[in-house]
Formats: sequence, C-alpha cells, structure tokens
Amino acid sequence: MTSFKRARILSVGTYVPDTIMTNKDFESFLDTSDEWIVTRTGIRERHIVPRGSSALVSDFGTNAARIALERSGVAPEEVDGIICATVTPDSLYPSTACTLQANLGCKNAFAFDILAACAGFVYAMSIANSMILSGQAKTILIVGAEILTKTVDWTDRATCILFGDAAGAAVVQGTNEDEGILSTCLGSDGVHGDILHFSPWGEKRFMYMRGNDVYKQAVRLITEIGQKAVAAAGLTIDEIDLLIPHQANIRIIRAVGEHLHMPPEKVVTNLERYGNTSSASIPLALNEAWGEGRIKQGTTVLFASLGGGLAYAGAVVRF
Ligand code: UT7
Repeated sequence: MTSFKRARILSVGTYVPDTIMTNKDFESFLDTSDEWIVTRTGIRERHIVPRGSSALVSDFGTNAARIALERSGVAPEEVDGIICATVTPDSLYPSTACTLQANLGCKNAFAFDILAACAGFVYAMSIANSMILSGQAKTILIVGAEILTKTVDWTDRATCILFGDAAGAAVVQGTNEDEGILSTCLGSDGVHGDILHFSPWGEKRFMYMRGNDVYKQAVRLITEIGQKAVAAAGLTIDEIDLLIPHQANIRIIRAVGEHLHMPPEKVVTNLERYGNTSSASIPLALNEAWGEGRIKQGTTVLFASLGGGLAYAGAVVRF
C-alpha cells in the first residue's frame, strides 16, 4: 500500500439515544438542584438509555459510523481499519470494533478497541494518522462510543449528574494534499490513576471519581497537551481557528480557553445538552461545529482531551 503525505478527516457522524434526562429529573431522587448542576458544570440535560436498558454500545457506534460513511462517500468494503475507543464495550471480546465491522459490512477492515477513556477519540485519531502515514492503511473509521450511564452509581450525586450516552465516528483517509491532521500528541499519568477509576473485578462495579482532583489535572494537562499539539504542528495559537475540547465541565473548558488565550467565540461547547459523553464528546462537538458552518476548507482546529488513566491527547487538524 502506498504511503501518504497526510491523513484527512473526510466526515463525521453521531448518534444519541432519544431519552432526555434534565437536571430537574435528578431532584426527585437526589439531594441536588438544577441550579447547582448548571452553575458547577454547565450541563442542563443529557441523552441517556433508560435504566436497565439492553442497548448496545456497538449499535450506537454503528449508527454514528453509517452516517459518517454515507457523508464521506466511502463504501464499507473500502475501509481498511476500524478503531473503536470505548470504556463501555458490549463485552471484553469480541471487541466492539469487530462487532462494528460485522454490522457495517467492512469485510476488508482490521478492527480493534482502545481504552483511553475521555481521551479515546483523539488517541484513535493519532493511531489512525500514524497507520495511514506509514502506509498500513488508506482509510480508517474511528469511533468513540459510550453508554456511561450503565457504569454510574445513581446514588452518587457528584458523578451521576455529569454523564450522558452517545457515539461519534469519523472517516480518516490518506491524501497527498497539505490539509489534514497536522499533529497529534499523546500523554499519560498513571500515578493519578486512582482519582478516576472503575472498580476492580469482584467488587460491585461503578465509576469512582475525586472530582476536584480530576478538575485540577484536567485544566493543567489539557492546556499542556493543547500547547504541545500546536507547537508540533509548527503553528502558534493565533493560527488556531477553533478549540474543540473534551466536554466535561464548562469551568474546565473556560479555564483551558483562558490559559491557551483562545477567546470564547473560538471555543466549541455543547455539553449543556449532552453532558460528558467520554470518547464521544469530541466527535459530537465536531459534528455540531461542522454542521453550523464553523468549519470550512482551511479551518484549523485544535482538539484536546483528558480522561481516566490519566490519559490525555491533543491534535491539530486543518480541514
Ligand atoms: O471526563 C473527565 C472526567 N471528569 C471530569 O473532568 C470532571 C472533573 N470535576 C468536575 O467537573 C467537578 O469537580 C465536579 C462537577 C464533579 C464537582 O464540582 P466541584 O466544584 O469540584 O465541587 P466539590 O466536589 O468541591 O463539591 C462541593 C460541594 C460538596 O459539598 P460540601 O462538602 O461543600 O458540603 C459536595 O458534596 O458540592 C456538593 N455536591 C453537590 N451538591 C449538590 C457534589 N455534587 C453535588 C450535586 N448537587 N450534584
């Protein structure tokens, strides 16, 4: 297979379930309020699967990927690889990516999952970019899909109010044009693994988070990886048209925007309607920005994210 100068994002597609849970809905079973949640997080509502639902994350990813494929004009058999980022796979194996391959009819694709929590989509973008530039593949479907509400403790008011369910997918393809993924930077800090984790085997299994600690690390490391990605692209921050950060908390996003000297009008946010959807949050925000005409040919976007692990990642893409 030939190697390419760049890898481009051809298209994006998303999926969210129909059911909407508002902040008010939490007031009936938790000591919380719409006012607290909006002020502390910026979230007003989130799409969720009904409690006890048998919904599959692979179906979420399939729905998002079908839209991305259709928009790109790429046929399923032209896809060389599928990388699915998820912390809520259907099962440990087969991988969700293999199920996606079967559902989509991508019979010529390799498929594997990666786990980098909320940074998963940018990690997948980085892996796809490297595989395309090294000539291992021409076209890779990257997917971030999560049903996080299946993993939260609904009695823990500090975590369950934050999350929503969603999927996003993008078609990444090799090109010899100048536009495309200009840089990707990955980072991890396993020393802080305990501040955001899922319980080990054998215990009653929930997500645990020391919110305040994650908050501080998020502001610091998302800023840091964003700066690194911009420098690696050979650009300065003034040359970035849009920042698409992980949608975890509006206060984290504002602080990162300030540290990076990005004015609010250049920062994409949509967490007020979706909450934190982990690996799906970046494609969900990208899809919206693209659909609203904020991304045109030549627009340069900085992606930056952090999640459990800790794992964090940044990327600069010129569309
Ligand atoms: O995707 C990446 C992973 N996640 C994140 O990036 C999340 C990062 N962290 C955060 O977004 C914030 O830390 C939270 C939104 C989770 C919490 O906000 P905070 O401003 O850090 O609040 P806090 O944890 O310091 O808690 C302040 C108070 C506490 O009460 P006391 O001890 O002061 O009496 C909490 O018990 O707010 C209380 N509290 C709540 N009150 C009403 C915590 N959750 C709630 C709630 N409703 N839902």
